[in-house]
Amino acid sequence: MSFVIVSLLSIVLTQIYGRTNLDPRVDLLPAETLLVHNRVRAEVGVGPMVWDFKLAAFAQNYANVRSKDCALQHSTDEMYGENIAAGWLKSKESMSGPIAAKLWYGEKKFYNYQTNKCSGMCGHYTQMVANQSHRVGCGHVRCHADTYLWVVCNYAPRPMGDENTRPFVLALALFSVILTPAYGLPKVKPIDDVQPEQTLAVHNEIRAAVGVAPLVWNETVAAYAQNFANKLAKAGKCAYTDMRHSGGPYGENIAAGWVQPEDQMSGPIATKYWLTEKPNYDHATNKCKDVCGHYTQIVANQSFSLGCGSYRCHDNELIWIVCDYYPMPMGDANTRPY
Ligand SMILES: *[C@@H]1O[C@H](CO)[C@@H](O)[C@H](O)[C@H]1NC(C)=O
Ligand SMILES: *[C@@H]1O[C@H](CO)[C@@H](O)[C@H](O)[C@H]1NC(C)=O
Ligand SMILES: *[C@@H]1O[C@H](CO)[C@@H](O)[C@H](O)[C@H]1NC(C)=O
Repeated sequence: MSFVIVSLLSIVLTQIYGRTNLDPRVDLLPAETLLVHNRVRAEVGVGPMVWDFKLAAFAQNYANVRSKDCALQHSTDEMYGENIAAGWLKSKESMSGPIAAKLWYGEKKFYNYQTNKCSGMCGHYTQMVANQSHRVGCGHVRCHADTYLWVVCNYAPRPMGDENTRPFVLALALFSVILTPAYGLPKVKPIDDVQPEQTLAVHNEIRAAVGVAPLVWNETVAAYAQNFANKLAKAGKCAYTDMRHSGGPYGENIAAGWVQPEDQMSGPIATKYWLTEKPNYDHATNKCKDVCGHYTQIVANQSFSLGCGSYRCHDNELIWIVCDYYPMPMGDANTRPY
């Protein structure tokens, strides 16, 4: 009998409580889902996997196929390893990408390394720790009026899953890391997300492109921005609809984005994001076609210095960046930024 049975499924059923519609990405939490996998692997000495956008797209595509029924059924394409879990959304801890991964980890006790056999369901666990798989990507969908979450993760390369191929080398497990109950992403100091030097450099490139003198970093302004960020974090202001200005004495740009393996939100990424408004600004008329106020703030020659702060939400997966500018530009119809 094969030990990696990709058709095995975990089902978690709890009572229906329903919950309000969250941002669907909160259901998946890719970075934390990956982290749970990698902690589980580290425990038996298997190297980490990386998040794969192609696999995630494959998984999401199949999740979309299942959007009508959320059936616990595998995709027919057998290119990849595949784990599925589903559960009712009762509270934050009911079902999500990381919760699904923790459920699969719960099968560990049924896997016997000596015999390479399962005494209960353990195929999801052996898939997680299979050293043949190096990449993972997951998708998700909600059913039953948004009260039921269905999660699928795909793995590549697909493990052999035969009687003779163990998922990992036991000897390495001696050097394993002890799995801690806290699965959250490591806390990052806000300044690590801000990246002051790079943020300043990106601003100054954008200014130089239109012949405006460079800004300098201003610690007073940065402390103001971080203080505002801390207040927002404490008040749990995490939804995009919560985005508000501090109403202080400075010009201000705010952006938010998810933790990702690449191009994760940060001070420099936020700045590049604001730069995308550049085509919306018409210097001749000093008007915006669409939104361009973040861009005109970056290039405003009335501002000489900036400082930024940041905070994280949703188990450290959503990053908010706040940049303040001194002096605050006039921003009236007659005053061009440069
Ligand atoms: C994976 O584990 C198998 C079984 O113990 C072992 O033979 C193989 O060398 C390992 N491969 C890697 C890449 O660690
Ligand atoms: C930094 O900002 C403060 C106002 O908050 C201002 O008084 C000071 O001159 C600024 N420093 C620089 C270098 O722009
Ligand atoms: C800023 O730009 C405006 C509009 O072009 C110009 O009139 C002004 O002299 C500039 N100020 C500085 C300090 O460069």
